[in-house]
Order: sequence, then structure tokens, then C-alpha cells
Amino acid sequence: MISGKAKLAGVMGWPVQHSQSPRLHGFWLDQHRIDGAYVPLAVRPEDFEAAFRALPKLGFVGVNITVPHKISALELVDVVDPAARQVGAVNTVTVSDDGCLTGYNTDGFGFIENLRQGGAGHNFGAGPAVVLGAGGAAQAIVCALIEAGVSDLRLVNRTRERAAALADALAGSINGSLTVYEFSDSTAALEGASLVVNTTSLGMDGKPPLEINLDALPVTALVNDIVYAPLRTDLLIAAEARGNPVVDGLGMLLHQARAGFGKWFGVLPDVTSDLRAHVLKGMNG
Ligand code: ATR
Repeated sequence: MISGKAKLAGVMGWPVQHSQSPRLHGFWLDQHRIDGAYVPLAVRPEDFEAAFRALPKLGFVGVNITVPHKISALELVDVVDPAARQVGAVNTVTVSDDGCLTGYNTDGFGFIENLRQGGAGHNFGAGPAVVLGAGGAAQAIVCALIEAGVSDLRLVNRTRERAAALADALAGSINGSLTVYEFSDSTAALEGASLVVNTTSLGMDGKPPLEINLDALPVTALVNDIVYAPLRTDLLIAAEARGNPVVDGLGMLLHQARAGFGKWFGVLPDVTSDLRAHVLKGMNG
């Protein structure tokens, strides 16, 4: 499939061998019969600046940026998209013909698109949204929820100051309220909620479990976990058992990738069950 004119993209990270992105983008390149390649680029932190600045010279159309380079990329790009500026991290970069590097953050897009596809017509303006966690992932998700029209946002985090800092930073952009809760007070946060999202690493393979009592949550509320290993987390199992609609976290990973693929290769691809199965196969073995 690859000719001498192939468009080149990839993912820069350290380590990068566990990344599912080459498999994911490779599926779409095949599906759309695009003359292009998406490769893993294992770049040590001390080499990142030189490698990143070399992208235009190597003829890359763009890259994804993953751990630990997302903040360095924000500092090095020539142009920063507003979402990346707001989140403080870049995960997608385009290289223009004149060598200009533009940094984006597509996590918020991926999060919203995942709920739009899997969330059975969820209306973001319909009621309070509860976000568990206040780290990097929460930041992108909270910004996206505000933009999607949520007017009552409830942040639950172990470290109260971190959630308070996030709430302070975004207080001016919400048309409504942003309230901080302790985990010990999560029952109050869940009362009347229409959406719950776990953005913490709790419940992930190898991490402590997420312990939260869902009794106060309306059974109509949509429950989403951004953890996707395991795919069915204890939170999703507990929510489903009481009748709540649930959306797993793999879709966010797949949907956030669509944005970069569209910018680099000119086709906005779809997330299908075949793609999910293909990526899951890569994750499991
Ligand atoms: P990411 O960028 O992936 O969001 P992060 O910035 O380290 O990662 O954020 C991890 C989130 O998981 C934070 O909200 C963190 O809570 P604190 O702000 O209190 O650190 C939460 N988290 C991680 N381990 C936790 C634990 N054992 N108990 C409760 N919360 C935890």
C-alpha cells in the first residue's frame, strides 16, 4: 500500500510499545486505502525537542503525542489550539507545508463523541454531571462538558485543593455552577445527577478499586468510565446491575484518534464494531 509519496504520521512517546495507536490508525489507513503510514516513535524525554523539531524536515504530516511529552509539545508548537491551551497539554500535532507545527488536544472531542455514539441520545443540558477525579483527563472532560452545555457540574476528588483549583480556573466559563465534593460526600454529588464519569485511575488493572455507593444516583443517569482496561470496570458493572445505561472507556480512545486522522489524511473515519474488535485484539495479546 505504501508508495514513495506516502503521507507519514506516528505517535511519539516513551515508552511507546504499548500504544494501540499504530494498530488503530493502520486499520483506518487500510479501510480507506490511503497511501500513508502511522508508526510508533519511541523518543526519550531528553531527545524530544530535537525529534519533535525534525518532523517538518522528515516530511511528517503530523503526530500524536503521548506520555511523557504532552506538556513539552505544548511549549514547542508554533500554534496552540484553544482546547490544548485550556487543558495545558497537546496530544495531536499537525505539520503544515511550510513547517508550522500546530498543537491540539482531542481528548474532549473523543469523550463527547463517545457518549454521543454510545449514550443513547444523552442530553448534556438535561441535568447535573458528576466528574470523579481532577487530574489531566478530568481537565479535558470538564472543559468539554461545559462546552457541551452542562450547567451543574460536580467535581469529586480525593485531594480537595486540586478539584478546587480546577473549579476556580473554569468558574468563568460555565453558565451555571461548578461545585467541589469530597469522596465521603459523594452521595450528595450523585443526587439527581444525569451523568457520572470516572476520570481517575481507580478500577484500572493494577490500581486500587473505585469504591463509591451508587444508591443516590437516579437509574436513568448515564455512567461512563474512561478506564478501559478492564473494559467492564466494577463501576460499570455496578451501574448496569441497577439499570443505569453505561458507556465504556475504549470509545474515548478511538474517537479522540478520529480528529488527528481527519486532519492528516483528509478523511474523518468512523468508530465501528470491527475497529473496536481489532483494537481489543491488540490490547489482549
Ligand atoms: P490523569 O492525567 O490520567 O488524569 P492524574 O493527573 O495523575 O492522571 O490524575 C489522576 C486522578 O486519579 C486524580 O484525580 C487523582 O486524585 P488526586 O488528585 O487526589 O491525586 C485520582 N486518584 C489516583 N489514585 C487515587 C487513589 N488511590 N484514590 C483516590 N483518587 C485517586
